[in-house]
Amino acid sequence: MTIRIGETVPNFTVETTNGEIDFHEFIGDSWVFFFSHPADFTPVCTTEMGRTAQLAEAFAERNVKPLGLSTDTVDEHKKWIADVDDTQNTTLKFPIVADPDLKVAKLYGMIHEAESATAAVRSVFIIDPNKKMRLTMTYPMNVGRNFDEIMRVIDALQLGDEKSIATPADWRPGDEVIIPPSIDNAAAKDLFPQGWNEIRPYLRTTKV
Ligand code: BEZ
Repeated sequence: MTIRIGETVPNFTVETTNGEIDFHEFIGDSWVFFFSHPADFTPVCTTEMGRTAQLAEAFAERNVKPLGLSTDTVDEHKKWIADVDDTQNTTLKFPIVADPDLKVAKLYGMIHEAESATAAVRSVFIIDPNKKMRLTMTYPMNVGRNFDEIMRVIDALQLGDEKSIATPADWRPGDEVIIPPSIDNAAAKDLFPQGWNEIRPYLRTTKV
């Protein structure tokens, strides 16, 4: 199944390393970084789990809950977490979904049959508190994700919601932002009293 940006994400009930969750209840009033990885006790995945655990404070500051998934069991996850903590110098506290029967992986399109019939690819889903899918990315099994980009895109989505702006290529927090074409100049005067730079009528930049 492909879940598209803007759609309400499907719900599921599943066992995790922190107990059973109902996904929609888990989302609650938070954003969620839901990500899959191919297997426990594999090297790239170990570094990604460690990085996610190390970024616990950065996720919490943004009101984002991480949720991992692989098609392994809770027992396997728990044994592996001890290794992640040990090798990556961290304490992994976020839940990891146990999905040995592929129920959630198939529901979220994490199984790419041409790669593997049983192991998930590296899917990234950013989901907002309204339970809407806001971003999807898919990495292959042999490339670890860029967590700077994951934080950057969360910042861009949240700022966009708060200030009715879009962000340009390679935007970083603090950089100029873009006034979307859907906002005409009359409306922009109210929303952006600080003014803007009109490079073209369709390309207006401002600071927020
Ligand atoms: C890894 O996490 O290291 C990995 C997993 C599956 C295929 C290739 C690499």
